[in-house]
Amino acid sequence: MNTNIKNKLVFALALTLLLGGLFAGGAVAADGVQLDQFHASQGVACADCHGADNQREAVPMIKCLECHDTKAVAAATADLQPTNPHDNRHFSTETDCNYCHHQHQKSENFCTPCHLRFEFVVP
Ligand code: HEC
Ligand code: HEC
Ligand code: HEC
Ligand code: HEC
Repeated sequence: MNTNIKNKLVFALALTLLLGGLFAGGAVAADGVQLDQFHASQGVACADCHGADNQREAVPMIKCLECHDTKAVAAATADLQPTNPHDNRHFSTETDCNYCHHQHQKSENFCTPCHLRFEFVVP
């Protein structure tokens, strides 16, 4: 093989790997915006959830409700298909927020293990 063509092929391969890596990295970063970062961007401090003495442990739902109203949250997603994650037949509007929303790790869809068709993407 002519060295010039060979160099071009090597360059093309390197470029493909580089761009592939960049796009994959971008997608991860976009999906990876966690609620702790989002809350911080809204001016919510660690102590707002963890208390004045900053107990670094799990935060019960009642703390979330100091700032979030369950009825208002349910109303905001009333039209979400196939069903409203914030108003369901098991817990009405009072499903524990922490079942789905996590602050310092990826959130999860608490409903899918039993309802495969509820494909919520949880922020
Ligand atoms: C909106 C409420 C909220 C805010 C703001 C918040 N946390 Fe948390 N934190 C939680 C919850 C809920 C958990 C339980 C685990 C989870 O959901 O990720 C937790 C757990 C923790 C833990 C225990 C280890 C773990 O990951 O489970 C540490 C340490 C912690 N938080 C530190 C911080 C620090 C430092 C800040 C500020 C930068 C902060 N938290 C801001 C809600 C919050
Ligand atoms: C000190 C007030 C405060 C506390 C406590 C708090 N939040 Fe929030 N949260 C906010 C504000 C402000 C916003 C941005 C406005 C909005 O979307 O309501 C927000 C937004 C959110 C969002 C929307 C994220 C998005 O991508 O649109 C979720 C989900 C959320 N909070 C969950 C929680 C959970 C779960 C807890 C309890 C562990 C909690 N919050 C505790 C103030 C708070
Ligand atoms: C079954 C999982 C689940 C539970 C439990 C849950 N959420 Fe959500 N939440 C979601 C999903 C999914 C969305 C995104 C809805 C969408 O795509 O518009 C969301 C979005 C939100 C938003 C943004 C709403 C907006 O304005 O668009 C807030 C705020 C929020 N949740 C707060 C809460 C609070 C507070 C609780 C506890 C009372 C809670 N969530 C419980 C799944 C859940
Ligand atoms: C541990 C398993 C389990 C989990 C987790 C679960 N469900 Fe269900 N759900 C069931 C079963 C079993 C039924 C059928 C019995 C009944 O109607 O109560 C059902 C019925 C329903 C129904 C009425 C029938 C239908 O399919 O429309 C809705 C709506 C529903 N669930 C929503 C939810 C939502 C939203 C979540 C997440 C917050 C959730 N479920 C989590 C087991 C579960």
